[in-house]
Amino acid sequence: MVQGTVNWNTQLDEKWLQNYVDDWVTFYRKDTKEGEVASYIPILANANPCHLGIAIHGKNGLKICSGDVDISFTIQSISKVISFIAACMEKGVSYVLDRVDVEPTGQAFNSIMHLEMKSPNKPFNPFVNAGAITVTSMLKGDTPKEKLETILVLLERMIGYRPIVNQEVYQSEYETSARNRAIGYYLVETGFLESDLEVTLETYFQQCSIEATVEDLARIGLILANDGEDPNNEEEVIPRQIARITKALMLTCGMYDASGKFATYVGIPAKSGVSGGIVAVAPPRVRSSELPFIEGCGIGVYGPALENRGNSIAGMKLLKHIASQWDLSIF
Ligand code: DON
Repeated sequence: MVQGTVNWNTQLDEKWLQNYVDDWVTFYRKDTKEGEVASYIPILANANPCHLGIAIHGKNGLKICSGDVDISFTIQSISKVISFIAACMEKGVSYVLDRVDVEPTGQAFNSIMHLEMKSPNKPFNPFVNAGAITVTSMLKGDTPKEKLETILVLLERMIGYRPIVNQEVYQSEYETSARNRAIGYYLVETGFLESDLEVTLETYFQQCSIEATVEDLARIGLILANDGEDPNNEEEVIPRQIARITKALMLTCGMYDASGKFATYVGIPAKSGVSGGIVAVAPPRVRSSELPFIEGCGIGVYGPALENRGNSIAGMKLLKHIASQWDLSIF
């Protein structure tokens, strides 16, 4: 069932979709062997590289979950999406975008080189570390606890419970933070940091250490697919303009220096983290034929074996396959 295309008109039933997704997860699990778990933050190296799980949440309550879905993992760079949204909601979009640009770097997420490439040294986008640290410095509050609260409150509204911060991962990040500190000092020198450096970095390490599951990521993706409104209760969680800008940034910058390839071959906004999580957003499609999740869906993937840019290797292949089978591309 993995190869070839399927006539979805006759197979939109939940049981059928579940069978297909189960087959695809089984098929792509072999690709976890091609990647490696992140080890520059030592505790992340304890993850099981063979894990692969996916959750897909649709607008009408349809949910498909397959593979290793019961594992909590730290969201790492996926938190940059939440902190960006939170900062835009607190300060306004123009305030944030006056201080962080919206351009892809084509460089690694923790690149320092690109900081000096443009005048006035504005960080390229909110999803590279320099931009994310700048965004975190904008959040209201004078302590890491106060700053983190904005992120946790927003996440709680999205996923329906208050997430926890994994203290072991936080400690491990803190103890191996030389590169992020270098970026932080550079931002102090160029005048982009709006809070005390230590407070900002501690907040950033804690937001990266927030735990979630693939179902939580799927919920976040679904709200973004629905332009910021929670389809379960029709409440606005994120203002529409902010949701749209966030999706544009996920598409252009969300998979780091693989963003162009992901946009070309998968075609949906997504954001990865080095723990192996990916949140992906499939907006509603306008097509003549019936397709699964035609009204849009959020997808959460977990596969800690990464390719060399820091994205889940099997997770990306699985998303590529689903996007092609279900015609999810926004283009
Ligand atoms: O800044 C770091 O190194 C991490 N805490 C987050 C990096 C990350 O997830 C990059 N993603 N692919």
